[in-house]
Amino acid sequence: MGRLGEADALLICVPTPLTETRDPDLQYVEATARQIAATLRPGQLISLESTTYPGTTREVLLPVLSASGLKPGDDFFLAYSPEREDPGNPDFSADRIPKVVGGIDPESCRLAELLYGRAVVHVVPVSSCEVAEATKILENTYRSVNIAMVNELKMLFDRLGIDVWEVIDAAKTKPFGFQAFYPGPGLGGHCIPIDPFYLSWVARKHGLATRFIELAGEINTGMPDFVIRHVIDALNEAGKPLRGSKVCLLGVAYKRDVDDPRESPSFVLMERLLAGGAVLSYNDPHVPVLPDMRHYRVPELTSVELTPELLAAQDCVLIATDHSSYDYELIVRHAPLVVDTRNATKNVTQGREKIRKA
Ligand SMILES: NC(=O)c1ccc[n+]([C@@H]2O[C@H](COP(=O)([O-])OP(=O)(O)OC[C@H]3O[C@@H](n4cnc5c(N)ncnc54)[C@H](O)[C@@H]3O)[C@@H](O)[C@H]2O)c1
Repeated sequence: MGRLGEADALLICVPTPLTETRDPDLQYVEATARQIAATLRPGQLISLESTTYPGTTREVLLPVLSASGLKPGDDFFLAYSPEREDPGNPDFSADRIPKVVGGIDPESCRLAELLYGRAVVHVVPVSSCEVAEATKILENTYRSVNIAMVNELKMLFDRLGIDVWEVIDAAKTKPFGFQAFYPGPGLGGHCIPIDPFYLSWVARKHGLATRFIELAGEINTGMPDFVIRHVIDALNEAGKPLRGSKVCLLGVAYKRDVDDPRESPSFVLMERLLAGGAVLSYNDPHVPVLPDMRHYRVPELTSVELTPELLAAQDCVLIATDHSSYDYELIVRHAPLVVDTRNATKNVTQGREKIRKA
C-alpha cells in the first residue's frame, strides 16, 4: 500500500458487506481510502467500484481523500464505476461488459471515461457519481425482486400442481416484455442478497421505505424452509422421519459452476437438516471442504464422492446447486429419492417418479 502513489489511477473494489443488523459495512472502503490519502499526489484518479448506496463516493470517500490537503477536481480526481461481473458466464468477460462511470465533477468523469475506454468495449458516462451508484443498486434490486417473485409463484404453483419451470419456459417464448428469472432454494452470492439493503438503509435515513426490497428479502430468505418442508414430506411418504435419515446435499456454491459459497442457501439447508436430526453429507466438485462462514455454524465435512453405492445408501439426495458436471441420470438412477430445487433433473428420462421438485 506504500506504493499507491506510483499509479496514475487507483481502482477500489474492496468488499462492502452488511453488519449483523443489515446496515452497510463500509469499513473496508474507509480503510482503503485512508491508505490512499496517505500517499495521494497531484494528478491521481481514484475510482470506486465496490457496490454501495448512492452518496458513498462524495460523502464517505471524498472527505477522507480531501483531508490530504489536495483539492478535488484540481489536484486529484474521483469517480464511481460499478463492477459488473457475472462469475462463470463464458459470454461476458470483464472487457465485454459496458462500464458506467460518474464523477464528482465533469473532469473526473472525463478521465475515468478515458481510462476505462482503453479496457472495455463501451463506456457509459452519466451525470454524477450518485447516478452511477444508483445504477448498480437498481440492477441488483431488479434481480432480487424478480427472483423473489418467481420464488413466490413457485410456492403457489406447487400448491396448484403446476410446474413453475414449465410456465417460465412457456412465458419466455414471448419475444418482448418478459425476461426469465428462475426460482431456487433461496438467494446466494455476495451481491443480490446484500446490495438492495444498502438502498433500504439510505431510504430509512431519508424517512422512506423500500417495500419491494423488504418483501423480496423476506420471500427469498424463507425459501430454504419451503425446501426443507418438501424434504420432510417426501421422506414421510416413504415412511421415514427426518431424524436419522441420510441426506446428501448436492452443491454448496451459490450458483452453477462457480466455487464461491458466499451467502449460499445451502448453509441454511444444512443447518435445518442437522437441527432436524438428519445424517448429513454433501458433494460439491468446486468446494472440496466446507469453509468457515461468518453467519453459519458449518459442520466439519468434506465433499463425498458420488458413487452409485453412496447414492443408493441415502434416504434423500437434495439438489441445491445445478452444477453442469453432475450426471443427473446417474443420480436419479441410484438415489431412492431426489428433491430438486433447480429443475436440474429436467432431462432425466428414467426414474422420474423418484424426483420431487421443491
Ligand atoms: N465478485 C463479483 O462478482 C462482484 C460483482 C459485482 C460487484 N461486486 C462488488 O465488488 C466489491 C468486491 O467484491 P468481491 O466479491 O470482489 O470481494 P472480495 O471478497 O473478493 O475482495 C476483493 C478484494 O478486496 C481486498 N480487500 C479486502 N479488504 C481490504 C482492505 N481493507 N484494503 C485493501 N484491500 C482489501 C481483498 O483482499 C480482495 O483482493 C463488492 O462491493 C461487491 O459487491 C462484486
